[in-house]
Amino acid sequence: MYKLTPAERLRMVMEKTGLSEEEGAWIGQRGLSLDQADNMVENVIGLIQVPLGVATNFVIDGKETLIPMATEEPSVIAAASNGARMARKEGGFITSATDPVMRALIQVTGIADPQGARQALLARESEISRLANEQDHMLVSRGGGMVGMEVEIVPTRMETMVVAHLLVDCRDAMGANAVNTMAEAVAPLMEEITGGKVFLRIVSNLADRRVARARAVFEAGEIGGSEVVDAIVLASALAESDPYRAATHNKGIMNGVAAVTLATGNDSRAVEAGAHSYAARSGIYRSLSQYEKNGDGDLVGTIELPVPVGLVGGATRVHPVARANVKILGVESADDLGRIIVSVGLAQNFAALRALATEGIQRGHMRLHARNVAVEAGATGDAIDTIAAKMASEGNINLERAAELLREL
Ligand code: MEV
Repeated sequence: MYKLTPAERLRMVMEKTGLSEEEGAWIGQRGLSLDQADNMVENVIGLIQVPLGVATNFVIDGKETLIPMATEEPSVIAAASNGARMARKEGGFITSATDPVMRALIQVTGIADPQGARQALLARESEISRLANEQDHMLVSRGGGMVGMEVEIVPTRMETMVVAHLLVDCRDAMGANAVNTMAEAVAPLMEEITGGKVFLRIVSNLADRRVARARAVFEAGEIGGSEVVDAIVLASALAESDPYRAATHNKGIMNGVAAVTLATGNDSRAVEAGAHSYAARSGIYRSLSQYEKNGDGDLVGTIELPVPVGLVGGATRVHPVARANVKILGVESADDLGRIIVSVGLAQNFAALRALATEGIQRGHMRLHARNVAVEAGATGDAIDTIAAKMASEGNINLERAAELLREL
């Protein structure tokens, strides 16, 4: 695919995924209009564009899937495709997910007897639940709504607070709006029950009840042999125990996760916040993925993280390119999307670890970076690749050399 022009690639994606001419035009030419943008956020003055590419080779739960990815970083889409290719022999990515349950927090303060208040709240859960569900008939009619409540007692530097968590099945919505509305609606009842004063009523981005998982087996022969398997297992062991490495390991995962999140018009900050807080849930910040060697000597990668994403209610429905990207993915529910997103995170992570454990990432990365440098120097058309290839072969990738080569051309 990388040998085609952008227009040819788009045509190929349209043919494979059934995108209409109109949807293709949104992706390839029109994008978001200023008027649409003006309806989305405040004080709009323009648009900033980010490249949209398609990662290939993904088989997820037995289905061939093209992955639209929005990212400014070179190598990311190529690496994801490469990682996915190496998982194919053993069947690709196998996924699972919890129900799409989000948490809303209600902070109750000024409580003299937190244990008593906790029990009083729990005793009235069905009444609280009824009131919460009255706020969103649409969600309830789709099988969602409040499914439970937890009450935490949180000692803080100010006082011991009672924090109620509404657990809400958000179905195909990301759900922040739905749960915030419910939290605000039940707060007065909670004050009445506890005699306390409520301040915050807001979603928690530590969406630990809405996680997706993926696993894949990478056959040793496919990835460079048993030495590579062992090196990746060692890299994983470090990231599982050392926050300094885990931060970069997880950054690599988020290269894939954030790119699909953004391409589908979802809230990438919510997903980032959820991922990193989940990584720290044991009290130590750890990797979101693990790698083991199985009985056959092959590499088994696993990943688990919260994916608070939706298909309804957010920018996904409003942004024409995001809508077309959802169609490319062929997803019908937020759950499907979450499971694809974590698979991309795993492929991305695996590709980075494999590169790090073997030749290092710089060679491949710089090769792609060289194209950006050539463009920065003013190269266009074929000159970009010619200059990039020359700089890469010389091992001398900088603006001055690119300008020199451009003059020579
Ligand atoms: C670069 O964007 C991401 C990596 O640093 C991830 C990693 O170190 O695992 C390559």
